[in-house]
Amino acid sequence: MADSPKASPAPQRPLEGRRLLLCVGGGIAAYKALELVRRLRDAGALVQVAMTAGAQQFVTPLSFQALSGQPTRTTLWDSAAEQAMGHIELARWADRIVVAPGTADLLARLAQGHADDLVSTLCLASTAPLTVCPAMNHRMWLHPATQANIALLRDRGAQVVGPVDGPLAEGESGPGRLAEPGDIVAALVAVERGEAGSSTSPSPAPELAGLRVLISAGPTYEDIDPVRYVGNRSSGKMGYALAAAAARLGASVVLVSGPVHLATPAGVERIDVRSAAQMRQAVLGALPADIYIGAAAVSDYTPRQVAPQKLKKNADSQSLVVELVRTPDILAEVATQTQALKLVVGFAAETHDVEKYARGKLVDKRLDLVIANQVGQGTGGFESDDNAATAYWQDGEQVFPATSKIELAGQLLALIAQRLKA
Ligand code: C5P
Repeated sequence: MADSPKASPAPQRPLEGRRLLLCVGGGIAAYKALELVRRLRDAGALVQVAMTAGAQQFVTPLSFQALSGQPTRTTLWDSAAEQAMGHIELARWADRIVVAPGTADLLARLAQGHADDLVSTLCLASTAPLTVCPAMNHRMWLHPATQANIALLRDRGAQVVGPVDGPLAEGESGPGRLAEPGDIVAALVAVERGEAGSSTSPSPAPELAGLRVLISAGPTYEDIDPVRYVGNRSSGKMGYALAAAAARLGASVVLVSGPVHLATPAGVERIDVRSAAQMRQAVLGALPADIYIGAAAVSDYTPRQVAPQKLKKNADSQSLVVELVRTPDILAEVATQTQALKLVVGFAAETHDVEKYARGKLVDKRLDLVIANQVGQGTGGFESDDNAATAYWQDGEQVFPATSKIELAGQLLALIAQRLKA
């Protein structure tokens, strides 16, 4: 009986004998390139390292030398190193050049074909295929200049690995982290094996690029007299996190904000308002937009009249009656403007029967999506930095377990981008 065919096991050292020239750029992620050298050598590769001047501010050449087992190259003008192996020889030696981390500046210089330092000269002098692993601040990554540079490199056949989304060194979050060393090695193994698609494994284009997203956030204050108002406990954190996440995903974002103590997220156009009437005017004035997200806690009632002067205590009465009238429902009104919008998203903060009320709003206000969360039970909501939510749409729902509002905003925007395509 013939043996049944067996899948051949994956080689333990899939990069055995491959000559990789690792060019390290000057970013904080340079420390991760040390781990990359170790992993590449574990995979069987021969690794030589060249560092930019900036990279040497973060990690020493000696660290790379210890891990690669080869002298680290740092300058074009080192006669001893040049005598041992000239830079043109080194450029020819490489089977592949790996740039990690690829900073915004280094990518720009490679795209433009500079040759004013060792790393750029090696890249220009080599015919070896190029793998670039970008790492930088997310705004630098999303800048059209960087996107154009990476597109140019990709068009010339460069493999692009990352960047990945997540916390960045400066305390912000977004697409800009260096891909994990293990993932870079996996991408190199895949491209060396000629696996389909691996020669261009780009991070996806920003999901909301080219779209206009209008978001309302925070409370509204309804004045009773020049010193008093009716307000609510909304902090605006969820709406601001959504605005930041939408901008990170490439949207042009307009944030209509009630009174809050929050900084305007980067790249977001902010319009400050106080009352529900002002918010309505600002929101309608900012249309058309592709997406409207009503995250504001709009006051449902406002005093029928604003007293022109401070109301005085009445010595003869123990009570004061302030007559309140309904405010316009901004969300419901926006949702009628179907020609001006592709997707309308509302929020529902409920203390009980969350699904019933959320689905009720979906129908009554004619929304595409309702993000519901339970308030008043220690699960986040107003003022908190954390939140849990369930999203409801006509024929589906998705649960988002408790997490930071920043993280949740990213997850909700991913769902919103998905619903937009549905
Ligand atoms: O009806 P309810 O106030 O619970 O609905 C909450 C949703 O409606 C939120 O998205 C909120 O921004 C929006 N809303 C509005 N205008 C109002 C009241 C609520 O846009 N006057």
